[in-house]
Amino acid sequence: MTAPLKHSDPITVDVALGDRAYDIIIGRDVLQTLGGRVAALRPGVRTAIVTDRTVAKHWLEQTESSLAAAGIATSHVIVEEGEGSKTYAGLEKVSEALIAARIERNDLVIALGGGVVGDLAGFAAAILRRGVDFVQVPTSLLAQVDSSVGGKTGINSPQGKNLLGAFHQPVLVIADTSVLDTLSARQFRAGYAEVAKYGVLGDEAFFTWLEANAAEIFSGSAAREHAIATSCRAKAAIVSRDERETGERALLNLGHTFGHALEAATGFSDRLFHGEGVSVGMVLAAEFSAQLGMIPPADAARVERHLASVGLPTHLQDIAGFAQEGLADADALMTLMAQDKKVKRGKLTFILLEAVGRAVIANDVEPAPVRDFLQRKLAKT
Ligand code: GLY
Repeated sequence: MTAPLKHSDPITVDVALGDRAYDIIIGRDVLQTLGGRVAALRPGVRTAIVTDRTVAKHWLEQTESSLAAAGIATSHVIVEEGEGSKTYAGLEKVSEALIAARIERNDLVIALGGGVVGDLAGFAAAILRRGVDFVQVPTSLLAQVDSSVGGKTGINSPQGKNLLGAFHQPVLVIADTSVLDTLSARQFRAGYAEVAKYGVLGDEAFFTWLEANAAEIFSGSAAREHAIATSCRAKAAIVSRDERETGERALLNLGHTFGHALEAATGFSDRLFHGEGVSVGMVLAAEFSAQLGMIPPADAARVERHLASVGLPTHLQDIAGFAQEGLADADALMTLMAQDKKVKRGKLTFILLEAVGRAVIANDVEPAPVRDFLQRKLAKT
């Protein structure tokens, strides 16, 4: 697998969902084309942008100018950055602003931001007037390769993440890779875990290419667009076959059963970003697969080595504050996993590996070996 040597025309990835099909446009500076694309898609439409304070500082003006240049009326609502906005209160704020902006059934909501903004704005659009269309303009690597594609929208309940939501597909995704230049190195790395995930779960050749080209992706060369487009194609293919996660879409949860428990154990705080939890979770899933004899230990070590090589945490001990504050014990982590949506009749669902590049859904995993495995991992020094 080779990457283009130069930045070239934008790449279009089609999400084939029949009459709800849509394009993902990937490339440097494609944000400037937003207005023209929206005008072509919905002539005369009125729009409202939902964004957060930090993203607004960098990209709101450019987004509004692009819409204005195409003659599109727009307004905006700005929420606070972070998971604290994916709440009933955040939803109320956004919904009331959309109603006040007179966004009607034929208008468009534009989600300009990372995963939180995309999930929140998408859910507000899904329920506003029983459903208004929306456009995703993801501004984090994680949102560009994962959360902006596939139509999962929602907010958190005090009792758990993403417990309220809807499948609501966007009508267009604009992934401008130059906006990623303003991300911190840590945020970019966390998003990279989701890129690597596509290689580990279904495409060994892509994983091999990532092993050789990660530095190029981080430096912002054309390899970045190639990595994002390959990730989006992988996700689009899975979503178009299993939109509602009745089967193979669950493969996208590789690393998430362990990862969500670790995020919960660290209070969904800055100690562990979502992508970092996925990185540690993916390594644990690979090592657990090796323990079950499904893959050779060398394959688990290969996954760990690559993620560690880009600076991602790969062991429980790498989680910020582990030495000072510790982490939940194995029983507490098991309880957190039991509260996740991935438990049925006492058996856990894990995405495990049959090879690097071939993940499988295992929905009958007994808790006891998982608990023993975690206990050993927690004790490792
Ligand atoms: N982030 C996993 C999915 O969209 O299914």
